[in-house]
Amino acid sequence: MGRPYVCVLALAAVLLLVFATVSRSKGLRGREHQETSRIPSQFSEEERVAIKEALKGAIQIPTVSLSQEEYNTTALAEFGEYIHKVFPTVFSTSFIQHETVGSYSHLFTVQGSDASLQPYMLLAHFDVVPASKEGWEVPPFSGLEREGFIHGRGTLDNKNSVMAILHALELLLIRNYIPRRSFFISLGHDEELSGMNGAQKISALLQARGIQLAFIVDEGSFILNGFIPNIKKPFAMISVSEKGAINLMLQVNMTPGHSSAPPKETSIGIIAAAISRLEQTPMPNMFGSGPLEMAVQQLASEVLEFVKNVVADDRVQFHVLNAFDPLPISPFDDQALGYQLLRQTIQSVFPEVSIVTPGFCIGNTDSRHFTNLTTDIYRFNPVNLHPEGFKSIHGINEKISVQDYETQVKFIFELIQNADIDGRPVPHLHEL
Ligand SMILES: *[C@@H]1O[C@H](CO)[C@@H](O)[C@H](O)[C@H]1NC(C)=O
Ligand SMILES: *[C@@H]1O[C@H](CO)[C@@H](O)[C@H](O)[C@H]1NC(C)=O
Repeated sequence: MGRPYVCVLALAAVLLLVFATVSRSKGLRGREHQETSRIPSQFSEEERVAIKEALKGAIQIPTVSLSQEEYNTTALAEFGEYIHKVFPTVFSTSFIQHETVGSYSHLFTVQGSDASLQPYMLLAHFDVVPASKEGWEVPPFSGLEREGFIHGRGTLDNKNSVMAILHALELLLIRNYIPRRSFFISLGHDEELSGMNGAQKISALLQARGIQLAFIVDEGSFILNGFIPNIKKPFAMISVSEKGAINLMLQVNMTPGHSSAPPKETSIGIIAAAISRLEQTPMPNMFGSGPLEMAVQQLASEVLEFVKNVVADDRVQFHVLNAFDPLPISPFDDQALGYQLLRQTIQSVFPEVSIVTPGFCIGNTDSRHFTNLTTDIYRFNPVNLHPEGFKSIHGINEKISVQDYETQVKFIFELIQNADIDGRPVPHLHEL
């Protein structure tokens, strides 16, 4: 997830109330087909070891995104070589085309056997935010396994998805799987820096080719465990939108002078007071008030005015460095193919999850670059997340349990097969 924004999950309580009913919608058409030619998601002991070892190796490559100018190009290139080595079948299959985009990002085009089915896309990124050794139980780029967990930067955000997607595909191909529905896999190298060189270029390339997608699945939300008091059971939240963002620069100009005779107020004091006032006056939470879409739009247009009012000092100037609007809400009704496929796959792979709910991602993801290609964008990581794990994203001690990671591979293995159904996205209203 793009820094410095993170998914705020407290919203889930409200969303659960609003949307709990939606989760009980009917299954998808075309079940008959998939039952007959289904490949079971059962992996041998050897494959299970290979699955976890592949992720550990990926964690050890320090694909750190520091700033637009500073990222480790050696590591990014090494990552490309690594996936070639670990997933030989993916790279040698005749109906899969691989392209490197923006020097380091990867686009795979998996040609399905039925050209009448609209393709979809699986999206993930392999750059990570920096991590210094301080505070970590194990070094952040070690990928060490300890007490059933693989530790390291990127185990949740988001090398787990990159590796799980490729590994699931590798295992399907080894079992002679041929998809009916075509799909793309887009792996970005600069998501943490806004995806301008990776995801955006991939999107532009696909737009130039006239591609339209049935849906996209990206990182974002999780299976949430223990986030809401009184809700003991884990529930799955599929994010159907994400907030916009704005980067503001605050500037104060004062008359220069000698430090031996400082003025009563200095520019540093004025700007510090402004920041302090902002810190003490958080943005209002509008998610519980009225229709969700309206609330989000209000958040977008009110932000700058709100900040100015809180600072309430004419000497502080505001410069908008960059900003973008919140994303449209993706459909999640009975006709929404991507949403229903996710829901169906969650219910088969995570039988303990009885509620699947749409939600909002307050962090930003690469998927926002793909809005011209589809209206159906879903942000969901098929991984159990506890509050402690949530703090570790962009924080310390990021880790994933070996079991959870294997389940993620299994989920994608199932999802790809589920997507082969005939059901087609039909026109629908984007209503709440
Ligand atoms: C960049 O990545 C390479 C491995 O690909 C690593 O050896 C090197 O230490 C990294 N550089 C920095 C500054 O992290
Ligand atoms: C979407 O398409 C429009 C029109 O071609 C273009 O101006 C815009 O930059 C595109 N947006 C993205 C995110 O690719």
